[in-house]
Order: sequence, then structure tokens, then C-alpha cells
Amino acid sequence: MNSLFAKTILCIGAGYVGGPTMAMIAHKCPQYRVTIVDINADRIARWNSDQLPIYEPGLDEMVQAARGRNLFFSTDIEKGIRESDIIFVSVNTPTKTFGVGAGMAADLQYWEKTARQILESATSDKIVVEKSTLPVRTARAMERILFSTQSGIRFEVLSNPEFLAEGTAVKDLEQPDRVLIGSRLTESGIRARQALTEIYANWVPLDRILTTDIWSSELSKLVANAFLAQRISSINAISALCEKTEADVTQVARAVGMDSRIGSRFLNASVGFGGSCFKKDILNLVYICRYYGLNDVAGYWESVIEMNEYQKTHFVMTMLNAMFNTLAGKKIALFGFAFKADTGDTRESPAIYIARRLIEEQADLAITDPKALVNAKADLKDVEGKVRFVEDPYEAALGSHAIAIMTEWRQFRDLDYERVYQSMVKPAFIFDGRNVVDHQKLYQLGFNVYPIGKPALTHL
Ligand code: NAD
Ligand code: UGA
Repeated sequence: MNSLFAKTILCIGAGYVGGPTMAMIAHKCPQYRVTIVDINADRIARWNSDQLPIYEPGLDEMVQAARGRNLFFSTDIEKGIRESDIIFVSVNTPTKTFGVGAGMAADLQYWEKTARQILESATSDKIVVEKSTLPVRTARAMERILFSTQSGIRFEVLSNPEFLAEGTAVKDLEQPDRVLIGSRLTESGIRARQALTEIYANWVPLDRILTTDIWSSELSKLVANAFLAQRISSINAISALCEKTEADVTQVARAVGMDSRIGSRFLNASVGFGGSCFKKDILNLVYICRYYGLNDVAGYWESVIEMNEYQKTHFVMTMLNAMFNTLAGKKIALFGFAFKADTGDTRESPAIYIARRLIEEQADLAITDPKALVNAKADLKDVEGKVRFVEDPYEAALGSHAIAIMTEWRQFRDLDYERVYQSMVKPAFIFDGRNVVDHQKLYQLGFNVYPIGKPALTHL
């Protein structure tokens, strides 16, 4: 243990959550020593380099300032465990792909390995913090593993789910709506949660640090994501109705969202939600409901995902119908591949599904994205040769029949669409899967414009 520091913190899992979260703690609390470990040596090497493994606005600066001072990245998990007082566990918890619960339940193998490793390597008492998103009652399983020997070492398990969104991780961590800490309601449980509260209190106002029992904390994380995704599926369902009735989904969302009981955020109709968590966490919720025999409840939440699948299919069908029912041999430029703007992450991005469907229709694809081309190439490795990856959006659009906007990158709003239009095959189509460009202006330039949830503007 390094006596220069007031607390020694370890985070197991140097991913999209572990990296930024710990960088923020190190940044706000120079009195603590923060180490992040991972089994993935490449990832750790990148965290120690100038090319961080993830892109988040503001993250590079924060990491550079703290790295080597009180923020360390390492592959030595055992040493990290031995030397820490508080261990955050932020490993991945993907959807299970095999055996019981395949395609639904959370795959807890990485989680369980971590629990066993903590038990093996610990030589003093630890607070173990669940940072990953987990099924409700996982803390009980962790306790069973940690308490399974007579080592005399005391472990206290806390739940502290993370609510950051990618692309705004630094801002979300710096000014969180709330920090949630769940504990056992025993004396030692409450002491442990005070120790964790003390860390966040270095920059988060106390009235935003919410403490609950441990099961409510675990469940709240799944529910928060389910509610957010549900809003998107709700507005997307309405967007389909708008397209049939000449209503405008943006205006409907505005009118509805101004009701303070409903609120205006997360009502942007789109080609569908993506990201590593919404689908997996809802599937997990559905699985838990089924496990407890709550089949109607499970069905209700499952429909949020079904609606999202519909939205992606509907987008491809709109393209196909508009372009005279054939895409074979036509050049299509996909503007954006990340699941949202300001991230290079493409996990569960609707663009993956759309690209594959367009390739099935034998379209000739060019994909452009300011941060996600490396991931896009990996996602489409099996269809290599059927798609081009292009840095410059003007080059991607050159000679194309259509543009489909997949990600709401600011760059795509600000393009010179006159120039883009001139370089395309006519009739030129634009399908705006994010409602981000000026539809009227593009129509006047000559484009046939297909927004989401608004009447199409066409010259045909
Ligand atoms: P990630 O895949 O980016 O990172 C997880 C890391 O854990 C990987 O680098 C992996 O190598 C490492 N790991 C796995 N097993 C390990 C082990 N035994 N020892 C050491 N390292 C190990 O995942 P993520 O996006 O950071 O998500 C982590 C958790 O946080 C998930 O449960 C997710 O649901 C949740 N979450 C994610 C976000 C997000 O925006 N990505 C937001 C909130 C919550
Ligand atoms: C989401 C939640 O917002 C975070 O609070 C949570 O911590 C995180 O999941 C997680 O658990 O992983 P994230 O997936 O990073 O964060 O990004 P969001 O901003 O929620 O966007 C998710 C998807 O929904 C994106 O594809 C986005 O484009 C789409 N979206 C979002 C819409 O289609 N419409 C909207 O109005 C909002």
C-alpha cells in the first residue's frame, strides 16, 4: 500500500466505464491512488499511450494530466487487488450466447472470475463495488463466493451502477444527475457505503448521492435503461404513424414533451437505438421477469426491443420502396456508423443491421464516419470486399444514388450539400435516419428527401 495516498482504489475492467470513471475519480481526488487493471494487455498498453482505446470528448486531457501521478493502468491484477482498499468491478456483462438463457440472460462468467480472483489475491479487508450492470440479486452470488473460505478477511459488497452515456461520459461523470449506492443495511454495510460516499462527495453534492438497499440499487440500473429505451421505442412507433398521416414527429414530440410530467428528452425519433446496453439490459430484465413467472411483465418490456427491430427494418423498406424496389448495383453512402455521435463505439449500432441488409440487396456501399471506421471494418469483416470505408464524406457520396444518415455527427449537418448533390447520380435520394439535416433546403437543392416520421419531400 502506498502511504502517500489517503485511499487506494482499484478498478477491474478498463473499458468504456472503468476508464472514464476512474479517470474522473483520479482527476477530482489527487489524494487517492487509482489503478485500473485488465486482462487485455493491448487495451492497457493503449491506455498508457497517446492513442487511448476509446474516444470521449475531454477524456484525453484528463487521463494525460493524472496518468503517472495518481492514475495507473496495469495488467497486474493480483498486485492491484492486494494493494487496494476499495475495488470497483467494471467488467463486461454481455448477453449470454450459449446454454440456459442464451440470447437473454446476462453472461456472468467474467464477473464470477473476478470475484474468485479477488478472493484468491486479497490479503486484507476490502470493499467490493459492483460497477457493471448486473441482474438484481447478483450481489448475493458475489457474497457467497467471497465468504466461501475461512480466510478471516472481511468483504463488503456494494452496488454502484454507472449511468454515464457514451459521447458525454466526462460531462455525465462530472455532473451526474445522481450517484446511486446500494448496500446491505447492516452496520458494516452502512459503513462501507459511507466510505464510497466520501469518494464521490469530493465533487458531487451530497443531495445527489442516493443511498438505497442493495437490491433496489441493482434493479434501478436495469429499470433506468429500460425506461430510456422505452421512450425511444414509443416515439419511433409514433413516427411510423406520422409517415402515414402527414403529421410531423418532431412537432408531436415537442408538443408532448412540453408537458412537464412527460419531459422533452429522449424523444428523438431515429433509425433505432443502438449501444451495448439498452438491448442487453432489457433482455436481462425480460429474462428475470420470466424466471419469476411474470410472463406478462416480460412481454411488455420485450415489446420495446421488438419495436426497435421494426424501426430498422422499416428504414430499409422505405429505402427500397423509394428507390423503385431495387438497390442492386446502386451506390449508397452510409453517413455514420457509430451508434450515436461523439463516440467511435459501434456496438449494436443500427448501421450494422442496415449495412448488412443493403448488402443483401446487392447495393454497393461506401461507409464514412469520423471516429468509427476501425470498428465498422471489424463489424463487417465477413462481408469484406462488398463495402468501402472512406474518411471523407464527399468522397463517399461521389457517384452515389443515395445517402443514408445513420449517426447524428455534426459534420454531416454542416456539409456543402450543393456540392454533394452535384456529385451524385440523379434522381438523388437522402434518407435521414436521425432527422438532422435541413430537409426543406435539401429538397430545394434537388434531393428526394425521406426523413423519419415526416412526410417525404420528393420530386418524383
Ligand atoms: P467493456 O467491454 O468496454 O470493458 C470491460 C473490460 O473488462 C474489458 O476491457 C475486458 O477485457 C475486461 N475484463 C473482463 N474480464 C476481466 C477480468 N476477469 N479481469 C480483468 N478485466 C476483465 O465494457 P463497458 O462498456 O465498460 O461495460 C462494463 C459494464 O458497465 C457492463 O456491465 C455495462 O453494462 C456497464 N455500463 C456500460 C456503459 C457504457 O456506456 N458502455 C454505461 C453504464 C454501464
Ligand atoms: C445509455 C444511457 O443513456 C446511460 O444512462 C446508461 O448508463 C448507458 O446506456 C449504459 O448503461 O450503457 P448510451 O447507450 O451510451 O447510454 O447512449 P444514449 O445516449 O442513451 O443513446 C442510446 C441510443 O439511443 C443511441 O443509439 C441513440 O442514438 C439512441 N437515441 C437516444 C435515440 O434514438 N433517440 C433519443 O431520443 C435518444
